Amino acid sequence: MAATSGRRSWHRHPSDPSVLEARTTTVAIELLRKGDVVALPTETVYGLAADALNPIAVAKIFEAKERPSFNPLIVHLPDEQWLERVAKVDDRSRAQIKKLISQFWPGPLTLVLARQPIVPEIVTAGLETVAVRMSSDPVFAEIISAFGKPVAAPSANRFGRISPTTAQHVFAELSGRIRLIIDAGPTMYGIESTIVAVREDRIDLLRRGPITVEQLAEFGAIHIVSAPKTVSAPGQLPSHYAPKTPLRLIDNAELFALEKNRRVGLLAWNAFIPAERFAAIRILSERQDLSEAAANLFRSLRELDDLDLDLIVAERVPARGLGAAILDRLQRASHDSGTRGRPE
Ligand code: TXA
Ligand code: MG
Repeated sequence: MAATSGRRSWHRHPSDPSVLEARTTTVAIELLRKGDVVALPTETVYGLAADALNPIAVAKIFEAKERPSFNPLIVHLPDEQWLERVAKVDDRSRAQIKKLISQFWPGPLTLVLARQPIVPEIVTAGLETVAVRMSSDPVFAEIISAFGKPVAAPSANRFGRISPTTAQHVFAELSGRIRLIIDAGPTMYGIESTIVAVREDRIDLLRRGPITVEQLAEFGAIHIVSAPKTVSAPGQLPSHYAPKTPLRLIDNAELFALEKNRRVGLLAWNAFIPAERFAAIRILSERQDLSEAAANLFRSLRELDDLDLDLIVAERVPARGLGAAILDRLQRASHDSGTRGRPE
């Protein structure tokens, strides 16, 4: 797993990507206080943050992302004290929630809980629940604790596009729409947080992520929610995370029959790579390490997507541990491939 040490701490002006200045988190904090949006690193992916308790500030997130307003946002907390100010923890689930929090917070686990009235409807998209998490990213933590209030932050990409794992990705997605991107280098996990809802001891898995089913299973029975009926969660839409280039999942590039005159890119997992057959190749992890693969996933997809290929083929990774979350993202990226112009 990528270490956080040695990460650059700079901020980048979207108006001029060549200008890197020594980090001034103060500017980010000022923007948050003024009710503006700012792109911040988290340990999972870059987020587009605004004051979660200020509906006008939150509206600016939807505007910049072109996100349909019916999609609820994750509320990031400065500390655990904020949990019960924004969410209701019912007595029957309390013990389980506390266990999960003490094990995984701060970190990439999002909990869906009943909402407190203080949370604006625009944040929860009118739902009676609110998604909360506490990021372990040191730069994010520094900014949010100085701000002193919860921050709503979806991934800092335009709606339906690949989540950004570097400040450069955010720039490619949102330049001209936001005033500041805090650049702290590539994110540690590279995929979005695991989302769960807790019902007494049972854990409903709403989105796979860095905290794996295996890790969660130590705390209770896991119920995998595949097609939620009541929640419009874009992370759960089949065609979310779509690159522009059609993407197909395959087991093994060696067995893939290439069609003539097509420029095909390979997102490789297996050790043997038939390099001569592909117009471009990105290797998820030379060491076949699933954490490294997750950290490289969105950057590799984005790079292949930028090459104007006819097709991207992605080798399936093992479905264990983090591999399940990677497969989930690849499946969504491959869904309806070729149908361009879809909103999501
Ligand atoms: O790692 C992450 O979670 C990143 C970083 C920036 O924190 N954030 C992120 O946010 O992935 P976003 O908005 O791209 O995805 C949030 C997901 C969506 O699928 C949304 O529908 C779901 O969380 N969600 C939010 N509130 C919910 C709720 N009350 N019930 C169910 N799902 C909810
Ligand atoms: Mg997202």
